[in-house]
Amino acid sequence: MARTERTFIAVKPDGMNRGILGNIISRFEAKGYKLVGIKTLVPSKQLAEEHYSALKEKPFFKDLVDFITSGPVCAMVWEGEQVVVTARKMIGETNPLSSAPGTIRGDFAVDVGRNVIHGSDAVETAQREISLWFEQGELTAWEPTSAVWIY
Ligand code: TYD
Repeated sequence: MARTERTFIAVKPDGMNRGILGNIISRFEAKGYKLVGIKTLVPSKQLAEEHYSALKEKPFFKDLVDFITSGPVCAMVWEGEQVVVTARKMIGETNPLSSAPGTIRGDFAVDVGRNVIHGSDAVETAQREISLWFEQGELTAWEPTSAVWIY
């Protein structure tokens, strides 16, 4: 069922240091997606290299791994209808200067090497990245309740 599609989102050390995690989470909540996993960590070199293994021949690979391991990352799993492709639209282009205002990179970044956020590029990639960053028990399947909490 499309409603249960999941994607992996990570706010990178620049986004964490600049204090824009809450803004980013708000955008996904407001869009209508559901947060089913979240944690902060400083990724190990091994985790970073595995996460970006498709890029290991690229000239920027070492800088990329150095950057992503340089500080805290907020790793998240978001769930909902077409969340993989929609999150990519919300994030913008790889190069923040090519990203439209209104997108996360378009609003918050100028440098391709400091582009604030990662989002999986396909459903299969999302599954690989989720199982790389999270244990199954760290994810929470939940349904919104109609209970009234404020009275
Ligand atoms: P990539 O997977 O191509 O982009 P995206 O994050 O949009 O899916 O690249 C991964 C990261 O590598 C990217 O977010 C920033 C960094 N990068 C560079 O530092 N220089 C570059 O020229 C490119 C293409 C990426």
